[in-house]
Amino acid sequence: MQLLDGKILDGRKLSKKIEQNVGDEVKELKSTCGCTPGLAVVLVGQDPASAAYVNMKKKACDRVGFYSITHEMPESISQEAIEKTIVQLNNDTNVDGILIQLPLPSHIDTTKLLELVDPSKDVDGFHPYNVGRLVTNLDGFVPCTPLGVMELLKEYDIDVKGKNCVVVGASNIVGKPMAALLLNADATVEICHIFTDDLKKHTLNADIVLCGVGVINLITEDMVKDDVIIIDIGVSRTNEGKLVGDVDFENVSKKSSYITPSPGGVGPMTIAMLLSNTLKAAKINAAKLSEQKEC
Ligand code: GUN
Repeated sequence: MQLLDGKILDGRKLSKKIEQNVGDEVKELKSTCGCTPGLAVVLVGQDPASAAYVNMKKKACDRVGFYSITHEMPESISQEAIEKTIVQLNNDTNVDGILIQLPLPSHIDTTKLLELVDPSKDVDGFHPYNVGRLVTNLDGFVPCTPLGVMELLKEYDIDVKGKNCVVVGASNIVGKPMAALLLNADATVEICHIFTDDLKKHTLNADIVLCGVGVINLITEDMVKDDVIIIDIGVSRTNEGKLVGDVDFENVSKKSSYITPSPGGVGPMTIAMLLSNTLKAAKINAAKLSEQKEC
């Protein structure tokens, strides 16, 4: 059995490395074409978790030298007012990436807003255009959390080809794009969700379990086989205020060959991938602008 340190998939460490690279590229972009990558975030309402995530994203933008702006809107804002802001951001040449922090209040049509974002600025990868490109294994913007998981696996030389991967959770943000990425990388993929009968039957067969549903201790030691790889995408707060994942880390880590802690695993990677996607958008926009100048 390896020492625990040897089996931790350390998202904090990798995210710092990625941030460093993004920061270096930002300097290069600024000196070669005078462009500063820009991210606009739309935050609606007072949800403390959303506000905390947006704050972390803003700080990360500052660290790498991006321009960033947050449009904070009251809970009672109308659909039309948010739509107007998105159209303005689509047309703003200082903005390369647009992120609408989810979830939105129930009176808002989230799908309509996501579809309004210019797909070339869709750094969250939630627009159906980018979803379609992901499913067909074409280049595009990929949702940050599952993209971060793939980067983490790559960093630790974990090849998913031919592996039995069980994704627990079928959300548009995490589960579905996670499954698509794994499938594109030639894994055998099962998606389990709230209506899955006998979750354990599925997870016991998995070489890799990826769980992101926000249920504390959903994955326990008896549900996984020896040497399983565990990717914990969940984040919840206990009654005592401690942040924890979906996996009983203490006991499951004894059986696993690799495991992500939560917090400190996938979370930091999500932010690193947002930076990386925004840089990608900025480079595409810079190339388009220089083409236009040449014409
Ligand atoms: N809410 C929870 N996760 C995410 C995310 O990755 N992007 C956005 N926009 N909202 C979220």
